[in-house]
Amino acid sequence: MSDASGFIPYARQTIDSDDIAAVTAALRSDLITTGPVVRTFETEMCDFLHVPYGVAVSNGTAALHAAVYAAGVGDGDEVIVSPLTFAASANCVLYQRGTPIFADVDADTLLLKPTAVESKISKHTKAVIAVDYAGQPCDYTALRALCDRYHLTLIADCAHSPGAAFQNKSSAQWADIATYSFHPVKHLTSGEGGMVVTRSETLARRMRQFRNHGIDSDHLNRAAAGTFEYRMVTLGYNYRICDFQCALASSQLKKLAHWIERRRQIAAMYDDAFNSDERMAPLRVHHDAFHVYHLYVIRLATRYTAVDRRALFDQLRASGIGVNVHYLPVYRHDYYQQHFKGCSNNCPNADAAYDRIISIPMYSALSDQQVMRVISAVQKGLDSLSV
Ligand SMILES: Cc1ncc(COP(=O)(O)O)c(C=O)c1O
Repeated sequence: MSDASGFIPYARQTIDSDDIAAVTAALRSDLITTGPVVRTFETEMCDFLHVPYGVAVSNGTAALHAAVYAAGVGDGDEVIVSPLTFAASANCVLYQRGTPIFADVDADTLLLKPTAVESKISKHTKAVIAVDYAGQPCDYTALRALCDRYHLTLIADCAHSPGAAFQNKSSAQWADIATYSFHPVKHLTSGEGGMVVTRSETLARRMRQFRNHGIDSDHLNRAAAGTFEYRMVTLGYNYRICDFQCALASSQLKKLAHWIERRRQIAAMYDDAFNSDERMAPLRVHHDAFHVYHLYVIRLATRYTAVDRRALFDQLRASGIGVNVHYLPVYRHDYYQQHFKGCSNNCPNADAAYDRIISIPMYSALSDQQVMRVISAVQKGLDSLSV
């Protein structure tokens, strides 16, 4: 789908009439927040990911915050994070007064590199946040082994990767806690929304309390027990999500497998066009990974510079292609530079990648014709680069 001007965005939600009908039904019911649809969606998402416990929250950032809280991160604790991600993956550590420590990504996949993680482990390390960048699951055999050996909580930021699998297991099955985002640019949306999932009943209980002010029950539990009493047992937040939002996400989840298939077809068309072009340095997909392509990231060959990338970006935008760049390494954001001066320039692979990457349109409603239009615009843009 493109807008009337022919502009093709880099990402876009798909909302069908069945989604609208599901939201309407939820809006007509007695409970529009903390009601039964939230629980239904939690169960459906857990079934999809093959994990037992899920807690739906107001957005993916709240999910990350709940995960870091449940991992017990507090004053002075260190959490190792991928730098090539949205700032929320690291900000959640700051919310708990911990310190994010950035470990470099693998130069070929741009996923957190297990050997780099190991080199950053100290006696203060409490957890690792791995990001399934662009929709490719991390190397979870290595990360799982590392976290087990050093007794660290493995948090998978799966904002990009619902449905992804490594060695046929979902990222959520490998991690201690996995977090999801249902922002409209993601695979499925609830407007704003997120979820934490886990295999641990204890962690799930902590995150459920954290979502609701740190209170030990919700109104449905109290009604079932016939009591008005509740206790606030820890300091939590209001990170709840509405039933009509979960109705939308639940309706979307039914279509996710089909949408992923289409994203993978589009990726194959892009791969065919770009993988053998010597002007490109394609990202590698691990042979054990089932990649679900939240993003399709092209990368220019090493002879190109940030100036060339900018020229290509500008040219694509001018031809109506909604390109984007994911991401400035988190430690290069102004806030991190001001508060954590020591963390600049310690992840050379992330820095080098940032100068040469562009995300091109990727969403299931793209037609083959639109994909071909993107491909020819990229090729024309490459032809015009002077190198
Ligand atoms: C990797 C990653 N983590 C976390 C988030 C935060 O999710 P939300 O926008 O739902 O708070 C995003 C959203 O863009 C993301 O891309």
